[in-house]
Amino acid sequence: MAHILVTGGAGFIGSNFVHHLIDNTDHTITVLDKMTYAANAASLEGLPESRFKLVVGDIADRELADELVGKAGAVVHYAAESHNDNSLSNPEPFIHTNLIGTFSLLEAVRKHGTRYHHISTDEVFGDLELDDPAKFTETTPYNPSSPYSSTKAGSDLLVRAWVRSFGIEATISNCSNNYGPYQHIEKFIPRMITNRLRGVRPRLYGDGLNVRDWIHVRDHNTAVWDILMKGRIGETYLIGADGETNNRDVVAILNELMGYAPDDFDHVTDRPGHDLRYAIDNSKLVTELGWEPQFTNFRDGLADTIAWYTENEAWWAPLKEAVEAKYAAEGH
Ligand code: NAD
Ligand code: TYD
Repeated sequence: MAHILVTGGAGFIGSNFVHHLIDNTDHTITVLDKMTYAANAASLEGLPESRFKLVVGDIADRELADELVGKAGAVVHYAAESHNDNSLSNPEPFIHTNLIGTFSLLEAVRKHGTRYHHISTDEVFGDLELDDPAKFTETTPYNPSSPYSSTKAGSDLLVRAWVRSFGIEATISNCSNNYGPYQHIEKFIPRMITNRLRGVRPRLYGDGLNVRDWIHVRDHNTAVWDILMKGRIGETYLIGADGETNNRDVVAILNELMGYAPDDFDHVTDRPGHDLRYAIDNSKLVTELGWEPQFTNFRDGLADTIAWYTENEAWWAPLKEAVEAKYAAEGH
């Protein structure tokens, strides 16, 4: 497995994964990325040319996918349209990338017999009640709520069918909400941090009681690596680090760390179909593969993330105005 194809490697989680591979392995890496609004070339700056190459292109381009998959020992598929709010205003790119793009990669993987790992989300399961003691497991039925989560669910089902019908060597992981460096500022935590840095109060959708199961992006990626190396073919693994926190509490911690009163935030119009709660039972990953999260102190992880956005203003400042103009048009 000397050469790894990472799709979506110029986005948030994919770029962190590329840095992880460069720092901790000897593998060479090709990133295939369409460089949509969500990509940032600066996230991949300074990587050694002898081990890393960026190919700008669409995973749904069958010829390109075939060529790059054919040269790789393994494919890790991060590329996606990834933001729920965008999927509500315009679902079409989600169909193209998450469904047709995944189909294109699976056909190439089938032809070349390449090891494939599929990155997905816990949002495919829908949501849980706030007072429900249950968590998602690998056998929870799929029940997605948004165009984003439904296209991710569809892509997972394509992978399962390609394993069963065509015998491809694939694994799937469904992870909870990630935070950390290089995350696009349209997402909750970096939006709140960069708002604060611009003197704007945090903006909570609805009552702010919705719960997400936060995991540091580096913990997500060590789990992905373990699954790629040691996971059983055809299996799904849920990735999470017991990080359930409601949105109000996230903002309260950010406020305190940035020198404001915990309740210094505004409420804005709720997201239509807003999922209440996500929660991951990670016992299969932990007991079967021996994975352990390292970034278990959420407050410390948020402090590091605030420091990263503060020190890397040049990375996000060019995006801020357009992101906020789009949110303003949606009433958020
Ligand atoms: P992101 O939006 O930050 O990055 C996505 C990347 O994919 C971008 O670089 C974009 O240019 C690229 N891309 C989009 N369409 C493409 C196409 N047609 N061809 C090639 N490249 C294309 O997303 P992210 O937050 O890094 O998420 C990565 C993956 O992890 C996604 O599959 C997402 O569903 C999954 N996931 C994300 C989270 C989270 O909290 N962000 C949690 C669980 C799972
Ligand atoms: P988000 O980062 O969009 O991730 P997801 O929709 O995949 O969970 O949002 C995380 C939570 O934060 C979600 O409950 C919506 C909420 N949210 C806000 O309250 N305000 C915001 O400005 C944003 C972007 C999200």
